[in-house]
Amino acid sequence: MSNESEYKPGLEDVPAAKSAVSFLDGKKAVLEYRGIPVEVLARESSFEEVSWLLIKGSLPTQKELANFDRDLRQRRSIHFRLKDIIRCMPGDGHPMDALHASVAALGMFYPCHTVTDPVKNWDATMRLIAALPTVVAAFARTRRGEEILEPRADLDHAGNFYYLLFGKEPSPAIRKVLDACLILHAEHTMNASTFTARVTGSTLANPYQTMASAIGSLSGPLHGGANEEALRQFDEIGGPEKVKPWLDAKLAANPKYKVMGIGHRVYKVKDARATVLQEIAEHMFAESSRPKSYETALELEKLCATIYGPKGIYPNVDFFSGVVYSAIGIPTDVFTPIFAIARVAGWLAHWNEQLVGNRIFRPEQIFTGKNDQKYIPLEQRP
Ligand code: ACO
Repeated sequence: MSNESEYKPGLEDVPAAKSAVSFLDGKKAVLEYRGIPVEVLARESSFEEVSWLLIKGSLPTQKELANFDRDLRQRRSIHFRLKDIIRCMPGDGHPMDALHASVAALGMFYPCHTVTDPVKNWDATMRLIAALPTVVAAFARTRRGEEILEPRADLDHAGNFYYLLFGKEPSPAIRKVLDACLILHAEHTMNASTFTARVTGSTLANPYQTMASAIGSLSGPLHGGANEEALRQFDEIGGPEKVKPWLDAKLAANPKYKVMGIGHRVYKVKDARATVLQEIAEHMFAESSRPKSYETALELEKLCATIYGPKGIYPNVDFFSGVVYSAIGIPTDVFTPIFAIARVAGWLAHWNEQLVGNRIFRPEQIFTGKNDQKYIPLEQRP
């Protein structure tokens, strides 16, 4: 029986697994994937290479990356009956619900019942990375009454996803920023959805079920939805000149008002992902113009630094990612599915790690109920 004093709500600071996948130091804004700083990867790598790095543990050779890239491209298409399922989904449903259901269904078309065969596990790993963009874009298009497009094997992962959504190729700057967003969201130590993936994986559930569980966990507003909220907030403010009166009014009504996209349980300085995303987004904005939401975000960041900086509250990656997605033309409710398209690489890395020397998760509880209660027959109850 556990001791009440041992109980930590939300398992805060309780180690739940040993992991070599990523490292985070929130006081120094350090996030490393397999020892490599995430900002270096965002500038210089690709999502395909980062997926390999996370899952396999080290950078691929040229040949390994070429083969992996080819194998991913071959697994982008989804079964025509899965497309039919997606077409039958309610168009006003949330894309995360569509993704959750489709990923579980994917496992029925490409079975991987046992997780003891490394060849099948690797095939499922590649299919999950490759097919998630296809599923997300398929739902995004069918609900607009548009045809589902076939993946393009001549485009890279980010470029193909953009094509599947919009039916045209992205400009080099848009492709780069989308690729960087996927890299920056690919992994983040033991967060709720990663923990979910490890718990489901520990039951030896198949990888599609395991990823579907993680997607369900990511769908919650406390986890994946902050970028949507941040964008709504910038739109509500309406422009950089309105930032101060907006925040003054919010704080007058509620001194504990939470500005969306700032603050983090772990980071006490500006999130390195936010800094590098801004840098790459600036290149994209140079092609057109800076959106009003971005100008508003910059002004709000300045104001918040004076108010919340001393408490260690600074922008996290979601302060800017919604602005970037919206500038690309991506609908707001597709922001979290893009998070899933990226994070599936991290979840799969943790799933693989979990399977090595696996032990099923079975934590203890603090019992707060009653014992020795009598069963009263229904007719005798008041
Ligand atoms: N705006 C204003 N004040 C804030 C904010 C914020 N966004 N975040 C924290 N604070 C203040 C709190 O009011 C509190 O102040 P106090 O000490 O005077 O009472 C103090 O900072 C600590 O706040 P907590 O909520 O206890 O911090 P916690 O670590 O539990 O919360 C969280 C972290 C949930 C991310 C919080 O900062 C928040 O709600 N931020 C806005 C939502 C957001 O951007 N979420 C995305 C997180 S990143 C991600 O998931 C990819």
